[in-house]
Amino acid sequence: MPGTVAHVVGARPNFMKAAPVIRALERAGVAQAIIHSGQHYDAAMSDVFFRDLGLPEPDRNLGVGSGSHAVQTAAIMVALEQAFGEFRPALAVVYGDVNSTTAAALVAAKIGLPLAHVEAGLRSFDMSMPEEVNRRVTDILSDLCFVTSPEAMAHLAREGVPADRMHFVGNPMIDTLLANLDRFDPERQRATLGLAGRYAVATLHRPANVDDPAAARRLVEMLGAISAQLPVVLPLHPRGRASLGAAGLGDLAEVRVVEPLGYVDFISLVRGAAVVVTDSGGIQEETTILGVPCLTVRPNTERPITITHGTNRLVTPTEAPRAVAGILDGSFALPAERPPLWDGLAGERIARVIAAWLASR
Ligand code: UD1
Repeated sequence: MPGTVAHVVGARPNFMKAAPVIRALERAGVAQAIIHSGQHYDAAMSDVFFRDLGLPEPDRNLGVGSGSHAVQTAAIMVALEQAFGEFRPALAVVYGDVNSTTAAALVAAKIGLPLAHVEAGLRSFDMSMPEEVNRRVTDILSDLCFVTSPEAMAHLAREGVPADRMHFVGNPMIDTLLANLDRFDPERQRATLGLAGRYAVATLHRPANVDDPAAARRLVEMLGAISAQLPVVLPLHPRGRASLGAAGLGDLAEVRVVEPLGYVDFISLVRGAAVVVTDSGGIQEETTILGVPCLTVRPNTERPITITHGTNRLVTPTEAPRAVAGILDGSFALPAERPPLWDGLAGERIARVIAAWLASR
């Protein structure tokens, strides 16, 4: 259909970012198609998010599945080129920094299809992260850069992105969080998992943390030291299963390893936690708004605003247990102010820009 906006999503964190944009464009009467790359395919990594977020079924699932970066990216590109040919959208919208994002950006650029990137301009300045490569490539190919955090505008400007391509709109992942606040029930999670008293939530899946056996051992030691202070619930991403298991995760009695959780169950669990220990990107943002202390086990973050305006702190695996002790002792102050425009209206702002852009074509 002429004027159709095609959303390309593929991996877990994309879904929460896309939902408010899709909804706002629907309200604006814009024709849309959802193309799922199939990068994440387990029911617990994908279907449950569509259900929890009330997203319509994808119009097309490319079913590419897992593989090396080249295999996965190439498979998405080949299948997507064909899908774009069939849907003939006026604009492709991509989200975040996963391989599906960049694969779609490359295809769009080569076939002359205008591209919008939601969550543009974030930089960890660490090119060993696959996501940093994805962010940079996607931004340079985007006609519309939707920015969640003020410093990202400066990053884009420094990389030569013209000002008229950048739109500071706030954070659609936080739209989703705020829209669902009354569904996040920590008590139900406590009951389901048999948790009494304070508990920590951990998520660990970065390749730099879990793919290397020595790094995985350090993480397991860290979890052991934290779980000596309070029970730890670890919804385990498939990527870390083998390496953390081999490093002795199963021997830690006070670490409750559970399957990956859906959106509502996971955020409910986080909402009731005394502390979150993570290497995820989005969780740094979600804990910031929920007011839950977050320790990010990484040497850097592309989301520094969660440190200056949030509850986030970077730690090494060695520092984390002491940081947890400090938080449990009460030496944790909530930030005075939230990041600007993380107010639940980012999807609306994005839809307004897209609708105006479509009208101007
Ligand atoms: C991807 C993103 C990462 C994001 C994460 C969120 C890239 C480069 N990385 O990492 O930025 O934080 O998603 O979860 O795009 N697997 C399953 N079932 C699935 C999907 C994956 O078992 O539904 C397993 C496979 O063994 C696969 C591995 O997980 O090889 C990694 O999956 P992949 O999508 O390649 O990367 P993630 O680590 O999930």
